[in-house]
Amino acid sequence: MSVRILALVGSLRAGSHNRQLAEAAAKLAPEGAEVVLFEGLADVPFYNEDIDVEGSVPAPAAALREAAQAADAFLLFSPEYNGTMPAVLKNAIDWLSRPYGAGAFGGKPVAVIGTAFGQYGGVWAQDDTRKSVGIAGGKVIEDIKLSIPGSLTRFAETHPVDDAEVAAQLTEVVARLHGTATEAAAA
Ligand SMILES: Cc1cc2nc3c(=O)[nH]c(=O)nc-3n(C[C@H](O)[C@H](O)[C@H](O)COP(=O)(O)O)c2cc1C
Repeated sequence: MSVRILALVGSLRAGSHNRQLAEAAAKLAPEGAEVVLFEGLADVPFYNEDIDVEGSVPAPAAALREAAQAADAFLLFSPEYNGTMPAVLKNAIDWLSRPYGAGAFGGKPVAVIGTAFGQYGGVWAQDDTRKSVGIAGGKVIEDIKLSIPGSLTRFAETHPVDDAEVAAQLTEVVARLHGTATEAAAA
């Protein structure tokens, strides 16, 4: 079975180091797994029940839901904004949490990792993301944790895929997520 892992990145900036982590994860995915980066988060409107109407859901939100439906697992990348996850990531989680009880996370495995400039690497943001995505219907793998501090300096010259320590950590994260998704599909 080929496992499709949807990557959602909580930073929209072109030079995002979290985006680079996602790119690295895609390159390091083992055979039988692919990490697909969802590109459209900037266009997804703020969640609003008035526009979440069957048949007329805004196209960017519908595309997010379709990508999530097609995924076997999720890998979320969060920097930290003022002690928690950026709004763009929370907004994606909110769209994927509805319809209530039938959202696209659908009990599929989810891992949350990321990098931030602070000395803890955004651990509050990633913990909050785990809490939220679990409530939204994902099966969070709580013990997959990777919070890389000092993003702006550590990755100033070096892409994460070329950082041997980070590449090894990412390889393990993707392999564990792949393994969990494979087991879940077989159960
Ligand atoms: C609005 C804002 C709030 C931030 N708050 C935090 C914070 O609470 N903790 C932290 O470690 N870094 C904080 N930072 C710095 C980010 O961790 C840093 O910019 C990070 O590299 C952003 O991720 P990216 O490279 O994927 O864009 C903040 C940055 C911004 C723009």
